[in-house]
This record gives sequence, C-alpha cells and structure tokens, in this order.
Amino acid sequence: MSEMRFDDKVAIVTGAGGGLGKAYAKLLAARGAKVLVNDLGGNFQGEGKDSGYAESAAREIRDAGGMAEANGDTVATPAGAAAIVGDAVKRWGRVDILVNNAGIVSASGTLATVTDEQWDNDMAVSASGTFYLCRAVWDGMLERNFGRIVNISSGSWFGMGSAVPYPAAKGAVWAMTRGLASATRAQGKDVKINAIMPIAGSRMTQLMGPEIHGLMERDFPARAVAPVVAMLAHDSTPCNGEMFTAGGGGYTRVFAGVTQGYRATDKDWTPETALAQFDQVMDTTGFHIPEGSMDEAALYTSDVPWEAFKAFIK
Ligand code: NAI
Repeated sequence: MSEMRFDDKVAIVTGAGGGLGKAYAKLLAARGAKVLVNDLGGNFQGEGKDSGYAESAAREIRDAGGMAEANGDTVATPAGAAAIVGDAVKRWGRVDILVNNAGIVSASGTLATVTDEQWDNDMAVSASGTFYLCRAVWDGMLERNFGRIVNISSGSWFGMGSAVPYPAAKGAVWAMTRGLASATRAQGKDVKINAIMPIAGSRMTQLMGPEIHGLMERDFPARAVAPVVAMLAHDSTPCNGEMFTAGGGGYTRVFAGVTQGYRATDKDWTPETALAQFDQVMDTTGFHIPEGSMDEAALYTSDVPWEAFKAFIK
C-alpha cells in the first residue's frame, strides 16, 4: 500500500497544544498537511489560558520539518470558532480537515455536587465547540465537495458515574457525527464525518488517580491513537458516520444497533406482554444498525415513505 499522504491539505486540530491533539497534529504534518495548531492553553478543567501552549507545539512540528502555525482562540464561542477557521483560511485558503479534539473535564464528584457552571463549561467546550467549528467549515466543504471531520467523543458515555456533564457533551458529539454524516450521504457529497473514543494517558487521566494514570501512560501513549485519526482524515477513508475506540495500537467499531425485538401489530397491547417479551427483546442475535432514524421505523413496517424522508435530510 502506498503511503497515505496529506500534501496540500489544510487541517485544523483543536486542543493540539499537548496530549492527544498534538499527536494528531504531528502525524498529519509529518505526512504533508498544513496544520493549524489551535489551543486555548488552560488546564484540563478549563481554567486559565496561555497562547504559548499552541505556539510551542507548532514550533516543535516546524522544527521536525512540518508546516504548522499556532492559534490561541477558544472553540467554545461562535466568535472563537469563526476566528480559528478564519485564521486557517487567511493563511492557506480553505479547510480540508477538521479534528474537533479540544475538551475539558470540569465536573467530577457526584450529580448532587455538580454545579451549573461545570455543566455549562463541559458542554461549551466539547459539545458547543464541536458544533461551532463544524458549522464554520460546513458550507466551504460542501461547496468544494471535499471535507473530513474527525470528532473526538469519549468512552465515558458508556457510563462513568453520576458526574454527567462531560459524558453528556461527548454523547452530543456522537449525535452530531451521525446527523452530519446522514446529511452529506443524502447529498452525495465527499464530506465524511466520523468520531473516535480515544484511550490514552494524558494530563486528563490524572483525574483517575495515580494507579490508572500510570497504567494509561505506560500502555496507551497518545501517539498510538493518531493513526486512526489520520486514516479517518484521509481522502481514502472508507466510512461516514462511524465511531471507533482507538488506543494502545488498535481500534474497534462502536455502533448503535437495534435488536430483532418484539414487533407485533396490536396497538392495544399490554405491559404484561412487554415484560413477557423482554428476553427476546434483549437478544442481540440478528441485530440491525440503522442508517438513520426512519430506517429504524422501517423495521416495523415497509410502508415508511423513504423518498419523502430523504428529502427532509439536509
Ligand atoms: P488534554 O487536556 O491534554 O487535551 C485537551 C486540550 O484541549 C488541551 O490542550 C486544552 O488546552 C484544550 N482546550 C480546552 N478547552 C479549549 C478551548 N475552549 N478552546 C481550545 N482548546 C481548548 O487531554 P487529552 O487527553 O489529550 O484530551 C484530548 C481529547 O480527547 C479531549 O476532547 C478529551 O475529552 C478526549 N478524550 C481523552 C481520553 C483519554 O483517554 N485521554 C479519553 C476520552 C476522550
């Protein structure tokens, strides 16, 4: 297989001053991309800012022979997102690749102790930031009929205790990935939006205590996630709207599917019937992965007006 290159591609990697984002930026630049290294430069809880963080990462990439420039704007406001995309466009004319990597974990503890401010902060960076950045590059990618967006979600939404703002924000990232991919698929555009749940030791995993953090640093280095991000950012990526876990030198598919379940036609059925069918409903044999929301409804009846529904997707 020939080397997967990114020559002439313009990429933005948000939150790339350190950790995973820097590893993504380094790999894309090492293979020819012009990379805007964005980072606000606060701590992992989102406090503070330091433009030197993005600058030192960009310098490191240039010293290694790559093309990179630094940007210190925030992803968490519409103006910040517009400034980040505007910076890349001013320097290099367009954006081909967007990696929405910036994230913070401001809430920990239990649901009762999570503050309104922590909820707002976690949602602002991962959920709103991803939304603002995607919106800012969207029309350009559709017009040029090329774009690759890699969104960074998190395995935390499988379940990580009751401090839910961060997992909720990362769940929103997954929903945006599915929605945007359904739109470009319906329009037949070569704009592909996928997501990963990384697993890596970073300053963020310090939150899990020294034992877990030590294990993560040893067995899950940030650089071992980067090949999956690069594959999803490449012209040849084979998928749109998919999610993968990635870490430690491998990756797996994550999907939302529906089981064969219990599909009867009696509209006046009872809770007793629902309970009686529970084991069958839980059985994953012969599951189906819906392409979109009406695809799921179509399993109940073949009368779903597909063409009318597809026209609704934009
Ligand atoms: P990190 O804290 O080193 O990286 C996050 C980066 O985002 C930081 O450099 C930070 O300054 C930047 N950032 C935060 N708020 C920003 C804002 N408003 N605008 C621009 N930049 C901002 O931690 P790590 O582990 O490298 O995380 C990278 C991404 O991967 C995050 O989205 C995180 O939630 C996600 N993640 C990481 C996992 C892991 O195992 N390390 C697991 C699951 C998800």
